[in-house]
Amino acid sequence: MKTVLKWTGILLLLLIFGFSASVAVLKNRTFDAPYPQLKASTDSAIIERGKAIVYGPAHCAHCHTPASEIDRIDKGDIVPLAGGHIFDIPPGKFYTQNITSDKETGIGNLPDSTIARSLRYGVGHDGRALFDFMPFHNLSDEDMVAVLSYLRSTTPVKNKVPETEISTLGLVLKAFLLKPVGPEGEIPSSVKPDSSIAYGKYLAESVANCKGCHTNRDLKTGAYIGPFYGGGFVMPCENTPGKAVVTRNITVDPEHGMLAYMNEDAFIKRFRDGKRVHESTMPWGPFSRMSEMELKAIYRFLKTIPPVKNDPGPVLVDLK
Ligand code: HEC
Ligand code: HEC
Repeated sequence: MKTVLKWTGILLLLLIFGFSASVAVLKNRTFDAPYPQLKASTDSAIIERGKAIVYGPAHCAHCHTPASEIDRIDKGDIVPLAGGHIFDIPPGKFYTQNITSDKETGIGNLPDSTIARSLRYGVGHDGRALFDFMPFHNLSDEDMVAVLSYLRSTTPVKNKVPETEISTLGLVLKAFLLKPVGPEGEIPSSVKPDSSIAYGKYLAESVANCKGCHTNRDLKTGAYIGPFYGGGFVMPCENTPGKAVVTRNITVDPEHGMLAYMNEDAFIKRFRDGKRVHESTMPWGPFSRMSEMELKAIYRFLKTIPPVKNDPGPVLVDLK
């Protein structure tokens, strides 16, 4: 009996040792992905389009500035994208990067193709897999160029953002599970902005991340665990510790879906009104500046989503 126990103990120790050694080696895994051959432009109309995307539907500014700036962003101030927003989730404490054109602390020294690769293929400048915060994998070439062009035109801001602190769970995920999330199907070279369902789908899934937030996800891995647009994703509040907001069901389900009883005008008005739940993580300010055409397109697309029977429950809950 004693020898059996002894050997089980030794085996277990070996297993733990082997596991920790693999984590230590694999957590720094790097990945390959193509570098999109896209170049920033100095054309003022393209830069303006980029700025409208960055401070509007793509809400880069909502994440790449500290949480204390959100009220200013919501009001429409062009706050510099100097980074420092903290996402404190099970895999770690993530600090968003400084994405101003500063050469030392920002992205001034990164080639256009490297920045485009991060956004499109989820592979960071140093080859690591990025956690899937950003939904721009299928952003069209034209819009990617507009975003790059705007980023290049920004005034450099010196701000050294702290390194992300990965938790033990995060290290294990990085070693064994985390893979870069890339585009689905073909990447469009350009998508015509109009009030069509097609443009609405593009905005909701490849620019504004309606799908990424309004679908239940596992906070540990980022994996989708609920039907698309059915809500129920419990997101820790960035400005109210201990609380979480729960995303809504935005399908046309007559019982639980927000879109069953909202007509197009009410939908547009809701977006113009901006944030109502103080703790909300939804970038209401940037979205309130979308054009009527863009909001119409999103509404028309959401109306085509099959109804999802899912009750997301109360908007505000205690974080477990
Ligand atoms: C929902 C929040 C969010 C939004 C919106 C967002 N970002 Fe990010 N971004 C992050 C986080 C978090 C990281 C760090 C991810 C990591 O380290 O795994 C990051 C990283 C980056 C990086 C660095 C990647 C690398 O090579 O290391 C760039 C560049 C970037 N974002 C640009 C943008 C641009 C441009 C936009 C808008 C088009 C944008 N981000 C919108 C949260 C966001
Ligand atoms: C970063 C996460 C996030 C993103 C991105 C996001 N939402 Fe939300 N949304 C939420 C949360 C959380 C709530 C619940 C709190 C609130 O009402 O603000 C919410 C609430 C809503 C509501 C209900 C508002 C009400 O009056 O009760 C609608 C409608 C909605 N979102 C639509 C959208 C659409 C359309 C998009 C894409 C353009 C989108 N959301 C993108 C997180 C998000």
